[in-house]
Amino acid sequence: MSILLKGGIVVSAKKRRQVDVRIDGEKIVEIGTNLKENGSNVEDVSGCFLLPGFIDAHTHLELNNGKGSMSTADNFNTGSKAAVAKGTTTVIDMATPSKGSSLKDCLVSWNQLAQGNSSCDYTYHMSIIEWNSTIKKEIKEIINAGITSFKMYMAYDNLRTTDGEIFEAMSEIGQFHGMLGIHCENGDMVNEMIAKFVEKGNLAPHYHPLTRPDSVEAEAVERYLMIADLAKLPVNIVHLSTKRSLEAVERARIRNQKVYVETCPQYLVLDDHLYDEPNFEGAKYVCSPPLRSFNDQQALWNGVINGQINTISTDHCSFNFEGQKTIGKNDFSKIPNGMPGVETRPELIYTYGVTTGKISLERMIGLLSEDIARQFDLFPQKGIIQVGSDADIVVWDPLTIGVISATTQLQNVDYTPYEGMQTKGSARAVYLRGQKVAENGKVIAENQGAFIFRKISTSH
Ligand code: URP
Ligand code: ZN
Ligand code: ZN
Ligand code: ZN
Repeated sequence: MSILLKGGIVVSAKKRRQVDVRIDGEKIVEIGTNLKENGSNVEDVSGCFLLPGFIDAHTHLELNNGKGSMSTADNFNTGSKAAVAKGTTTVIDMATPSKGSSLKDCLVSWNQLAQGNSSCDYTYHMSIIEWNSTIKKEIKEIINAGITSFKMYMAYDNLRTTDGEIFEAMSEIGQFHGMLGIHCENGDMVNEMIAKFVEKGNLAPHYHPLTRPDSVEAEAVERYLMIADLAKLPVNIVHLSTKRSLEAVERARIRNQKVYVETCPQYLVLDDHLYDEPNFEGAKYVCSPPLRSFNDQQALWNGVINGQINTISTDHCSFNFEGQKTIGKNDFSKIPNGMPGVETRPELIYTYGVTTGKISLERMIGLLSEDIARQFDLFPQKGIIQVGSDADIVVWDPLTIGVISATTQLQNVDYTPYEGMQTKGSARAVYLRGQKVAENGKVIAENQGAFIFRKISTSH
C-alpha cells in the first residue's frame, strides 16, 4: 500500500516547500500541495522537515576484518544500524584489500560482509594500496561492476603508494571519468616525526598531533593537486582538516582545477586540546589527520559556509578504548587510528551548523546528501526528494533535544568522542526505499539495505 506523508516541509539543497509526498513501493511517486488520500496510508508529519536520506561517503565499517584486536569495533551490521537510526540511508564504505589481493577479490569479500547484513543502502570506494599491471587492468572492471570511485593513501606504510603510482592510477581512472579520493598526509614526514618523539621517550597521545602538523597535510594536498593537474583528473580530497590545505585548494581552483573537498564533523566541533585528557583518554581522539586548532576549526566552518568545502562525511572507523586504543598505552604511535561517528553526523551538523545560524538547512542537505549524491554518481536516485527518486526520506523533528552518550548510542564501540554534547533536532522516522526502517532513533526493520550499482555520470 502507498504512503502519504502529509503536512511536512520538503527541503532540498536549493529550497524548501510545504508539500505532501506520496510513496509507492520503493519510489516517490507524487509531490504536491494538499494531495488526496486516494487509498494511501496517511502519516501526519506536520511540524517536521522531510529531508532526503543522508549519505555518508566515508566509512570504514569493516577495516582489518578478521585481524583480531585491530579489526574495527563496528561492522556492517552494527555500523549501518547506527547510521540508519539517525537518518543516514546510504554509506559509501572504504573497501580495502589486503596486500597481494586483487580488487575483484576485495569487492567479493566486501559484498559478502555487507549483503543481508546492512540496514542502510551501500556502495564502496575501492582502495588501491599497491599498483601493478593486474590492478591497472582491473580499474575498468571495477567501474563496470558499479564502483565508480577509488581511494589511495599518501600516508600509512601498509597502505600508501608512490607519487608515480598515484599518477598512473589517476591517468587510468581518468580515462573512464572515475573519481579518486586521496588521504593527503606526507607519510615520510610522519614517520620521521614519530621516530623523533619515540626516541626521546615522548610517548603520550599528546604527541600524536605533533607528528602530523598542518604542513604535513597541506604539503600532501598541494602535491596531489599538482599531480592531478598533470593527469587532468578532478581532485577529491577526503577528510581535509586545516586552513593551509584549504588555501592550497583555493590556489588550484584559481588555476581552474576541479576540486572536491570533504571535511568531517570531528574537525568542526572538536579540537586538539582533547589529546591532553587525563588517564590516557586522549587516545580516544587519535585519528589521522588529527584534531586541529581552534583557528583551523574556524577556517573549516568558513569553508563550509562559503562553499570551499563541498561535503561532510564521517571517516567512521571505530576502535574500542579498552583493549584497542589501549594497545598504545606506552606508545602513541601504536594507538589504532580512527573514531566512531556514522551515527552522530546529522544531529551534530544540525545543532552546531544550522541552529547556530552558521548554515541554512538547505546547505546542510547539500553537504550531507545532495552534493554527495551528485559527486559519486548516486543522483537523482539518491540525494533528493523528487518524483522517481528512491523514497529515502528522513522525517526530521527540529524541536527535540538530546545528549550524545556512549551509554545510549547504537554504534558498537565503548565510547563516543562527543560524550555529553547536547543536540537539537533528530530523525523521528526514516524511510529506506519506501519502508519505514527507523523510528525515534531505533531501528524497526533491520538489514533492509541493498547494494547500489553506480554508473559513471560525466556531469560531475
Ligand atoms: O584515522 C583515521 N582516519 N582512520 C581511518 C583511515 C583513514 O585514514 O581514513
Ligand atoms: Zn584517510
Ligand atoms: Zn597536549
Ligand atoms: Zn578514512
